[in-house]
Amino acid sequence: MHAEAPKGQGNYIDVAAVTAALAKQTIGQKIIPFRRMASTNEYAMCLSTGAVPDGTIIIAEEQTHGRGRHKRDWYSSAFLGLWFSIIRAPKSLEHITLIPLIAGLVIAKTLEEHFALSPKLKWPNDVLLSGKKVCGVLCESRVFSKKTAQLVIGIGMNVNHTKNDFGANIKDIATSLFVETGEAVDRTALLIYILQKMERELTRFEAGKIKQILDQWSRRCPHVGRAIYVTNNGQREFGVFKGIDNYGRLILEHSDGTNQHLAAGDTTINLKSQ
Ligand code: BTN
Repeated sequence: MHAEAPKGQGNYIDVAAVTAALAKQTIGQKIIPFRRMASTNEYAMCLSTGAVPDGTIIIAEEQTHGRGRHKRDWYSSAFLGLWFSIIRAPKSLEHITLIPLIAGLVIAKTLEEHFALSPKLKWPNDVLLSGKKVCGVLCESRVFSKKTAQLVIGIGMNVNHTKNDFGANIKDIATSLFVETGEAVDRTALLIYILQKMERELTRFEAGKIKQILDQWSRRCPHVGRAIYVTNNGQREFGVFKGIDNYGRLILEHSDGTNQHLAAGDTTINLKSQ
């Protein structure tokens, strides 16, 4: 028997508690909360450079035009999920394309450590539970020069949704922490955990621990080593998912033994058996 889902309406994230818990780190040193807005990523991308400190979080209880990858909509019901964007000035641009994968890894580790769940990662940055999507990441950037950029790391996590809270078009492919665990989740505590972990993982990344990060990512991706279809710029191709390169690109091995490195922006994947 599952516990009853918490009443979403009016159950706000405690922003003061989040700010206090993150006082010693860069990520979350400023939090800009909204009751409702179009999209936290859209808002963050419109902020002028230097208008807010590095690590600022834009968070909304509800998004009316949440955006996903490949110009898809992202459903962001009021008070049920975590919908937020982190503004980040990367120290170097060389491996910046790994950051979306790192964000997915942060979420996967959070679900393992905080809830004893066994999430899987689907390249580039979907987090799955029981084969359904619980969290998605949309990274967008403004590049100013060869060395400077502003990155927006947008994270959407389904937290306290019941099955009925998902619309007909996504109910077969989406899940939430409540659906998976039967327990109502304290979104404030969860957000604090994610943001603390994000600070640690990004620091590790900036210290050059790329191999470690890629190994940890690959261990959680069941598709590595398997036959897949990729759709790359509208073209469908078949091959074996060999792994991820240092830039977060998927390495696809063709039947003639050649390897192709595919960037996330242009590519979607499906298992051959699907
Ligand atoms: C995807 O899997 O397609 C990415 C979904 C990203 C959704 C988050 S919710 C917070 C932030 N604001 C947005 O408009 N999108 C991201």
